Amino acid sequence: MDSEAAAKLIDDAAEVLKNNDRGGWTVPASELYPHQWLWDSCFIAIGLRHLDIERSKTEIRSLLRGQWDNGMLPHIVFNNQTDYARDRNNERGDLNPFAPTGVSTSGITQPPMVAEAVLRIGQLLKSPERRTWYKEVLPAIIRYHEWLYADRDPHKEGLVLLLHPYESGLDNSPPWISELRKHSMPLWVSSGERLHLDGIINRFRRDVKRKTLPPGQRITNAEALAFWSVMRRMQRKAYNTEAILSRSVFAVEDLAFNSIFIRANDCLEQIAKAAGQALPDSLLENIGKSQNAIENLWDENTGFYYNRSFVSHRLIEEPTVASLLPLYSGAISRSRAAMLVKRLKRPDEFALKWPVPSVPRSSSYFDPYKYWQGPSWVNTNWLIAEGLERYGFDLEAKELRVSTTRMVAKSGFYEYFNPLDAKPAGAANFSWTAALIIDLLKS
Ligand code: GLC
Repeated sequence: MDSEAAAKLIDDAAEVLKNNDRGGWTVPASELYPHQWLWDSCFIAIGLRHLDIERSKTEIRSLLRGQWDNGMLPHIVFNNQTDYARDRNNERGDLNPFAPTGVSTSGITQPPMVAEAVLRIGQLLKSPERRTWYKEVLPAIIRYHEWLYADRDPHKEGLVLLLHPYESGLDNSPPWISELRKHSMPLWVSSGERLHLDGIINRFRRDVKRKTLPPGQRITNAEALAFWSVMRRMQRKAYNTEAILSRSVFAVEDLAFNSIFIRANDCLEQIAKAAGQALPDSLLENIGKSQNAIENLWDENTGFYYNRSFVSHRLIEEPTVASLLPLYSGAISRSRAAMLVKRLKRPDEFALKWPVPSVPRSSSYFDPYKYWQGPSWVNTNWLIAEGLERYGFDLEAKELRVSTTRMVAKSGFYEYFNPLDAKPAGAANFSWTAALIIDLLKS
């Protein structure tokens, strides 16, 4: 791409972010996602830092407003306008005694990208300001990582568990859907599926109602209802992990989340060092354990990483884009990294015309338009490119970054893309697509 085209793309991306700015925080997309989401805001801050570093810090600060007293960072900090009372009442984070007062949040978390975002903002600051910035946010990140270990790693395995598909950020990814169908599909939902009650249900869904998005690009109604029902069960236990686990076998050691967490620990150590502060010994011990634990998600027979059921300890052998994310963790061996790169290059799996499908073409789930079951997403491309570079696959990283940028230049700042022809899908003017393109072009 020539420099003029790149400058135009950056200007257009900046415009998307400006329009999605709600005064100190950014919505992922204006109509569809009117609140602040955890990992979205981290990706947004990573892009915004190139345009307005103070504003990128504010994005993180507003995210941290939602932090619970026990350290959890919620996946949503709700828009407090009266129009959104229904969304707030659906999630009811406030059922838990640790939820903050004065700000309404969800009761679950999302991939811990915050340490990466904080580190990268700091990298663009000069020395004294960088230290001040790191010192300001370090306590919140330490508390969050400590909470992940204390609350979500009850058996001290070095891997954290998730209780709801939304926590993975890859909502309807095949391993989650297969676990959901196995363990958490209420009878009334599967009957609804058989009775084809779609018309009625669609009226209540923001994504498919008013025909904003074709139903084929979103999760099915049965899945949406099952997600809702898992959330209701969590609410009945006031989002108390121990109480939820005592009554449910639906808990997953998610590969994408744990890969991101391992990398986040690395970022946290760098932040602490630059701030001149030591991390608590107990946290360091847990961090060390996680480094090796990712290998427990490796399957020798198929030569791939997978999600694992927390309860049965069985791998859920559904390959997805998450199977490539141990590259981003930086915690796997060079030889395993090379094996992942081979998979990335296979035309029957991940090497489609446009990068990188959210499930391999060979998967029975593959559908080029269906949310996390086929389309390409800019954030996972960004994570994979980082991982490739980390393992010295510089050429592959560069190619991935270039083709991701070309895909967006061709089709617009959409939420996701058909990996066969780059046709856009999902929400238009999607914030993390815009922000990460800025980062790709400016880094
Ligand atoms: C969807 C995505 C999730 C994202 C959210 C807001 O739920 O699956 O990853 O954070 O939308 O963009």
